[in-house]
Amino acid sequence: MSKIFKKDMTRREFVKKTSTAMVVTAASSMIPTFAIGGMAPVKVGVLLPFTGTYAKLGSHILDAMKMRIAQAGDKLGGRPVEYKVIDSEMNVPKSTQRINKLVKKEKVDFIVGPVHSGIGINMARMLKDKNVIAIVPNAGADQITGELCAPNIFRTSFSSWQTAYPAGPAMLKDGHKKVVLLYWNYAFGKQTAAAFTESFVAGGGEIVADMPTPFPKTEFQSYFTKVAALEPDAVFTFYSGGGAIKFMKDYAAAGLQGKIPLWGTFLTEGTAKAAGAASEGIKSTLHYSSELDNPTNIKFKADFKKTTGDDADVFAVQGYDAGSLLIQGLDGVKGDTDAKIDLQNAMRNVKIDSPRGMFTFSKANHPIQDIYLREVQGGVNKVIGVAAKALEDPAVGCKA
Ligand code: BEZ
Repeated sequence: MSKIFKKDMTRREFVKKTSTAMVVTAASSMIPTFAIGGMAPVKVGVLLPFTGTYAKLGSHILDAMKMRIAQAGDKLGGRPVEYKVIDSEMNVPKSTQRINKLVKKEKVDFIVGPVHSGIGINMARMLKDKNVIAIVPNAGADQITGELCAPNIFRTSFSSWQTAYPAGPAMLKDGHKKVVLLYWNYAFGKQTAAAFTESFVAGGGEIVADMPTPFPKTEFQSYFTKVAALEPDAVFTFYSGGGAIKFMKDYAAAGLQGKIPLWGTFLTEGTAKAAGAASEGIKSTLHYSSELDNPTNIKFKADFKKTTGDDADVFAVQGYDAGSLLIQGLDGVKGDTDAKIDLQNAMRNVKIDSPRGMFTFSKANHPIQDIYLREVQGGVNKVIGVAAKALEDPAVGCKA
């Protein structure tokens, strides 16, 4: 059993402990209020990377979540919001202490995070069936909505399987029969490679080399030499963030661009512009494209650009949707974070009007969503098809 916290403070303990500073309104609401007026804030813990190769991913998630909540008057269920933000540094061993800090010391109601699947698995183990509600705005590890699924764990992003499985048939359709796998060697990369292999081999494809590379290192030259010697029909990858930009530039510099087509899931997401000509023609399967022509996406992109100066990407979308989930869930219980079961049920039943398209949650609290087929054209990920319609993660091992 995890050695974290017992149950959170009960409402009575909360009131007793804070009685000099607060009074509780006896009438309609059970929500604590400050004596000087106004309701006590909903505490949202945040565990995201703000340094290292995934730094941009973390800041886009947080910026977009805050922007969404600000657009709703900076209130959750009528209560103000207080953020407790910790840089995860993508450090898995240190994540136990950081999660404990948010839960035990900061006494947060929610934790939004992480980006990295290793931390996601640890967080799901620690929080499963506990009193804090987790919203995972990125980490795709299958276990989070598989064997570690729980009524208090939600995801607004994707699973490893959900993004990679549709790439197998898409690559076969493009005529690629012999493929080399290149990916960062940790939980998410390994599961991405396995999900792709499952559908690709079942459709008659062959994996000619499986080449995991150390995370988060970006020395790719020796792998590219092997790719050139093997002459596969195409390469399927998982890299993201700063490392993905370096990967694409090095691939082009090695003379492989245009000769051996590159495919991926996240490779070109939020990175195509920075990689410049090196990203042109790369195809991918993902649950978003900045080029989606729906009113929510058009407004979201304009708002995000105005707020941050950055172009929106899938990571910003996932943070924005975490904000929507908090808003709609807490509206459903009028801000009463103590009504955990009702709150979780309200969250499970929302429909999210996302820039990726409207989605609902599966019984494992995971988005049922379209996976788009994209190609970089003119520095953006153009939608060239739908690789899988309303795809639900199989949630293997989930008892929910
Ligand atoms: C992950 O570790 O789950 C992950 C990180 C970056 C992009 C996508 C997935």
